[in-house]
Amino acid sequence: MSDPTARAAAALKAGDLIILPTETVYGLGADAANAEAVAKVFEAKDRPRFNPLIAHVADAAQAERVAVFDATARGLAEAFWPGPLTIVAPAREGGGVCELARAGLDSVAVRVPGHAKARAVIAAFGGAVVAPSANRSGRPSPTTFADAVEETGHAVAEAVDGGPCAVGLESTVVSVLDGKVALLRPGAVTRAEIEAVVGSLSEAGEGRRSPGRVALHYAPDAPVRIETAEAGPGEILLGFGPGVGEARWSLSPTGDLREAAANLFRLLREADRERPSAIVVAPVPREGLGEAIHDRLRRAAGHVG
Ligand code: TXA
Ligand code: MG
Repeated sequence: MSDPTARAAAALKAGDLIILPTETVYGLGADAANAEAVAKVFEAKDRPRFNPLIAHVADAAQAERVAVFDATARGLAEAFWPGPLTIVAPAREGGGVCELARAGLDSVAVRVPGHAKARAVIAAFGGAVVAPSANRSGRPSPTTFADAVEETGHAVAEAVDGGPCAVGLESTVVSVLDGKVALLRPGAVTRAEIEAVVGSLSEAGEGRRSPGRVALHYAPDAPVRIETAEAGPGEILLGFGPGVGEARWSLSPTGDLREAAANLFRLLREADRERPSAIVVAPVPREGLGEAIHDRLRRAAGHVG
């Protein structure tokens, strides 16, 4: 088999792991129905087993075989799929996402990725594919093929190169449960874009939060300071906007949030390789996509729970 899509689908059928390109970040994929394969994902990432995985599907019809959608979930799927939105909904009985992948919850997270290669692999395989970000737990997510291979390539039977990830941040996660929509993780689909479809969002109820949102996440080895453009000797400044920091280390020289999101994890990883005494990140606006960028930066700096 010379076709990487067919080889990846065959690896999934054999219960092996793959590196799956998506438009957000690279994923570490496994057959969602195969508990032994899913166990390998948790092991390769050193991921705590209370943190459930996202089931990736090829289209909305396949999503509804995995999860139970109400009219609101359908409206979100129509508005944003394929694309960087994950919907948490009640798991369908016999829906083929094993209990380990759901971390024992009666809900399941599903998304239809925007990357055509991801959908082609899933369609060739035929079932749902769980795929957390392909980093080891607690490290920045890989947004290039080389970074994905460096993080978890040792654990996979097949790695599919989809080029650099266009979005660069993990998907927005919303829950649609008991008639309420809550934002569990900000991402490329913004709060305002979701509210334009479903009206105002609810607070995520206790016990309904995203179990994976542990305090220190996405963190490079170097300490990270945010919201200041003052870097001392031995420190690297990641700039934003005209005239802030060296061009090579700018999230976006023009101050564009999409460009900053696409560059964020790659630059954090590249800066870390220089072994600086700290990585300093210049102020970035909080509106729109800025909410997700801030969320990841606060976590990289160890600020949030
Ligand atoms: O963009 C993405 O979403 C990437 C690419 C590879 O698709 N995947 C990704 O997966 O970021 P991961 O495993 O790193 O993040 C999944 C998030 C976690 O915060 C997890 O807690 C949450 O989704 N999640 C999964 N199932 C859930 C559920 N049933 N209820 C609440 N949160 C859930
Ligand atoms: Mg992750």
